[in-house]
Amino acid sequence: MKKLECALTALVLVGGLRAQAGKELIWAYPVPDPSPSTAADNAPKKLEGSARSYTQAQIDDQFNPPDWFPDRHGPLPSVVQKGIQAQACGSCHLMSGMGHPESATLAGLPEAYMIRQMEDFKNGLRKDPKIHETSARAARMNIIAAGLPDEEMRKAIEWFAALKPIPWYKVEEAQTVPKSWVNGGRMRLPLASGGTEPLGNRIITMPQDAARVELRDPRSGFMAYVPPGSIKKGEALAGGGSGKTIGCAICHGDGLKGLGDVPRLAGIHPIYIVRQLYNFQTGANSSSAAALMKKVVEKLNDDDMIALAAYAGSLAP
Ligand code: HEC
Ligand code: HEC
Repeated sequence: MKKLECALTALVLVGGLRAQAGKELIWAYPVPDPSPSTAADNAPKKLEGSARSYTQAQIDDQFNPPDWFPDRHGPLPSVVQKGIQAQACGSCHLMSGMGHPESATLAGLPEAYMIRQMEDFKNGLRKDPKIHETSARAARMNIIAAGLPDEEMRKAIEWFAALKPIPWYKVEEAQTVPKSWVNGGRMRLPLASGGTEPLGNRIITMPQDAARVELRDPRSGFMAYVPPGSIKKGEALAGGGSGKTIGCAICHGDGLKGLGDVPRLAGIHPIYIVRQLYNFQTGANSSSAAALMKKVVEKLNDDDMIALAAYAGSLAP
């Protein structure tokens, strides 16, 4: 009986949140699960090809994240490497700028676009949707952008804009996916105990090599499992042919590689793309530049967003 009561309460709770959002997209905004393991490990860690070593606690220090390959990039602007009033950019976006799926890719995005985003975050024009009471993604950037002196912001953005993007995602159509959990940093990881579950109408994103990603290896990318048929469906929608939306390439350029200060979508985290489409649709992103996306997203349903994200994410950056 107690169990049934709990299950019913849970159903009402989830139902309530979904009704509020009017959507089934809660999976795109993962929140932490209880950790399946409590073992602390203080041993120094190494990465192949790097002369440096860090403990896991140092790797997870968001105010001083690891820089495994200092010789592979130019001098770091101070806020990329060190957190002063807020966490260092490099902890969430990595020193490669490719970012984890719970944040965003910055490498090679247009400078003018990124500066505009920082201003929108600062002015509260780009916020989190009310899909989940603890969904704090844009909220991180609202705080960081508000506290950052203009000069530091400009240096960090210039630096990320100059980085060359690398292939980071394998987008794979799948019926079933490894069972997973979401860690404290909101990254989805496969359960060590194994097993699979149906994917359903979701995008599930996990590291290609969890051990390397947990070390914040800037060379180790992710898998994005997408529903069967979604890449082809996304390609058709992106062409604008169905009349449901407007062709993406008109503004985002050939191969969705970006055009002027309109950002690239090719090779971007598919789950991030879903979140942004939904944020545009709900008005959580209400900047004047976001107005150009309004008609694009107006008639899209969840499956259309999944398909567009699967297609764009599967393209070479
Ligand atoms: C604690 C983690 C965290 C840190 C540290 C962080 N970011 Fe972010 N950043 C995010 C998240 C999460 C998003 C996605 C927000 C959303 O979905 O609306 C984001 C998005 C962005 C975007 C928008 C990207 C796009 O494609 O529109 C820019 C630009 C950006 N961050 C720059 C920075 C800079 C510069 C710094 C350092 C001063 C920084 N971030 C530090 C988590 C972080
Ligand atoms: C009329 C021009 C236009 C068309 C057509 C268009 N976009 Fe956009 N899109 C924009 C602009 C401009 C921005 C940047 C908004 C800003 O600066 O805040 C943007 C931003 C985005 C973003 C956020 C990127 C990021 O890094 O956060 C996504 C995702 C996106 N568009 C997807 C699409 C898809 C998918 C299509 C086609 C179905 C499409 N867009 C068609 C103009 C357009």
